[in-house]
Amino acid sequence: MYEDRLLVSELFSKVMTPERAAELIKLGMIIGCSGFTTAGFPKAIPQAIAKTGTANNLTLITPASTGNELDGALANAGLIAKRYSFQSNETLRNAINRGEVEFMDLHLSQVPEYIQNGCLGNMDYAIIECCMVQEDCGIVPMASLGATDILVKQADRIILEINTSCPKNLHGIHDICDVSPESIIPIRRPEDRIGSTTIACSPDKIAAIVFTDQIGSTPSFKEPDEISRAIADNIICFLKSKIAQGELPPCLSPLQSGVGAVGNAVFTGLKEAGFRHLTMYSEVIQDSSLYLIKEGIIDIASATALSLSEKGLRDLYSNLDYYKQHIIIRPQGISNHPEPIKRLGVIAINTAAEIDIYGNVNSSHVTGSSIINGIGGSGDFSRNSRLSIFMTPSIGKGGAISRIVPMVTHVDNCEHDVDVIVTEWGVADLRGKSPKQRALDIIEKCTHPFYKQQLRDYFDKALKAASGQHTPHDLSSCFDMHIRYMHTGSMKL
Ligand code: COA
Repeated sequence: MYEDRLLVSELFSKVMTPERAAELIKLGMIIGCSGFTTAGFPKAIPQAIAKTGTANNLTLITPASTGNELDGALANAGLIAKRYSFQSNETLRNAINRGEVEFMDLHLSQVPEYIQNGCLGNMDYAIIECCMVQEDCGIVPMASLGATDILVKQADRIILEINTSCPKNLHGIHDICDVSPESIIPIRRPEDRIGSTTIACSPDKIAAIVFTDQIGSTPSFKEPDEISRAIADNIICFLKSKIAQGELPPCLSPLQSGVGAVGNAVFTGLKEAGFRHLTMYSEVIQDSSLYLIKEGIIDIASATALSLSEKGLRDLYSNLDYYKQHIIIRPQGISNHPEPIKRLGVIAINTAAEIDIYGNVNSSHVTGSSIINGIGGSGDFSRNSRLSIFMTPSIGKGGAISRIVPMVTHVDNCEHDVDVIVTEWGVADLRGKSPKQRALDIIEKCTHPFYKQQLRDYFDKALKAASGQHTPHDLSSCFDMHIRYMHTGSMKL
């Protein structure tokens, strides 16, 4: 029964039920789990741990966010005390914002280093979801890599969750390579392969093996709405103008895009705008990019995870031999590493929660205190890309807030790492502009008409309050717009 997925016969005796494997996890342990967005995170064992409910006070380390069967299940059971490195699960987010879970939000490129350096503690177990185990005990990961290779290397013991819902011929899509701080990463084009297709592991380290066929939670594909289409149109128009001016080549530079409806809209728009021979050097690939690969518009896409809807996942699995020629899944230490991002001249397109009139971006907090998801890879790409674009709808919460504000309540991506701001109203190219010029540009081109005069008034007031200094602020009134939202959360336009 196991023979075609577990090719090391000496490991057959380690196969057990999720419940028995869950018994290995004890109170207060530090656990690493594979997974990046909804791809490649263990499901059966975390659910069994949650059901038993005895392994309390856990520290949970994952390469990025995971799905409901891991973060949701353990948070719901109240078992997580500390959590690294990115999350997007509602139950967990609420527990963090109630102060019940200590959460440390990291640049995703830093996660492997933090684990290797022991900054996150010594991992008792790593629970790794995988597709299969080869004869040499090489682990074939699922449709994500993240920091799985580092978890396998650093944890004291490994528990494998072999997921049979994934075809065995996924083997070959990964490019796994360990980098030390002094190594040069020889990636000159997104298609360059520099490593191996499996994660090396010693059989002695494996404590338990569980089989499952759970697909688990998958994101729903967000169809572009009117606003995300308008944002996408503005981005595409801007990129075309830069091609016309000779700043960008006709097939652009490798693209990076964050997940979500606007990212989907941008990629759909690229097809409609007639772009061909595009490439991606990204953290995540979502459905819209997969379809552009299928249609021959994207030639090659490199990422650390495929964040696909159930339909997208079915498409991937049914056409794996084709997609494997066009997709490379790398460790996040490489997909998000400054060196290839800089060398390849990546165009980074990320979404902001709010942006201030000087170009500082908040990607992670509401009203300064409450976390949404985290910084993710946005900082890795914005700092090192050739062109760093941040997009956002101009308003949020049904119009109760402007997402362009006088001063962001939390800075994830600072003004020095933000080149271009895009909303459904227009584009502000901030490059070569002083703070005051940036403020005027952002207010006039990107704000919603309902909030424009308020922002103009604030800027005038700030100029007076700061006597025209370099980056004028009027601290006594700059958070009025946020405070108003706190008191009138349900206000509509
Ligand atoms: N104030 C209050 N609430 C805000 C807000 C703000 N400034 N900005 C967003 N929100 C709320 C929205 O109202 C929405 O809540 P709801 O679901 O209750 O309506 C929720 O946060 C999500 O906002 P939305 O604009 O629909 O989200 P999105 O899917 O486009 O994601 C981010 C926007 C910023 C949350 C998301 O891009 C993110 O987590 N970014 C950081 C990580 C990242 O950039 N990763 C990519 C790198 S590869």
